[in-house]
Amino acid sequence: MRFFLFTDVHSNKEALDTVMEFAAQQDIDHYLFLGDIVGYGASPNDVLEQVNSLDPITKIRGNHDKAACDQNPVKSFNPIAADAILWTRIALNKKNRAFLKELKKGPVVVDKLLTICHGAPFEEDFYIFGEFDASEAFLHFKTNICFFGHTHFPYVYTEKNHIVEGSHISSDTRTISLKKGTRYLINPGSVGQPRDRNNKASCAVYDTDKNKITFFRIKYDIETAQRKILYAGLPEALAHRLSIGI
Ligand SMILES: [Fe+2]
Repeated sequence: MRFFLFTDVHSNKEALDTVMEFAAQQDIDHYLFLGDIVGYGASPNDVLEQVNSLDPITKIRGNHDKAACDQNPVKSFNPIAADAILWTRIALNKKNRAFLKELKKGPVVVDKLLTICHGAPFEEDFYIFGEFDASEAFLHFKTNICFFGHTHFPYVYTEKNHIVEGSHISSDTRTISLKKGTRYLINPGSVGQPRDRNNKASCAVYDTDKNKITFFRIKYDIETAQRKILYAGLPEALAHRLSIGI
């Protein structure tokens, strides 16, 4: 079985199109989406339709998805993110708003094999930043692997004999062989707004037969995504950050 892992698309159609073209060549059996389809970018309806068309897919909501369909107060966001949420609420068509509302809250266990969540398995809006946070997260899922998003950093945390270690995946392609007796908390990185100073879209493939996870960074048409953000009247900073990957 080959799972395709992607998260934090954030209404970036250009990044999602490129990542989906790549996924189509990867012999994928099942897509796993970890939340935040919308927010920040200028193409919420296009990305919602594309994520919705993938089959089979297991998908969960992110904090921006919740806020965009009016289930979350916008005051919990920084001013720029809040502006984008308010813009997205107006831009969404009725069908896509209904689809967002129906997205499940994580964590969700898939095939009794792995867990997916947006922020952390104990709280969907929590950011796992560092080994202390990861240690807490390891206590809250039962499978060997849990995939998460929300931080927009591709990252692997391992837990063996109660020792937790983390590492940022900094190369554009990297394969990790999963070891017996080790548990994993893995973030595939963000498709539409990477924040680790690498501006390429991030995603991962989990091959259960080979017991390997491969991370990928993929170049996409940033200029068009930026132009659309500016044309929509969204904050300029949201366009600028895509070039520098923050
Ligand atoms: Fe996000």
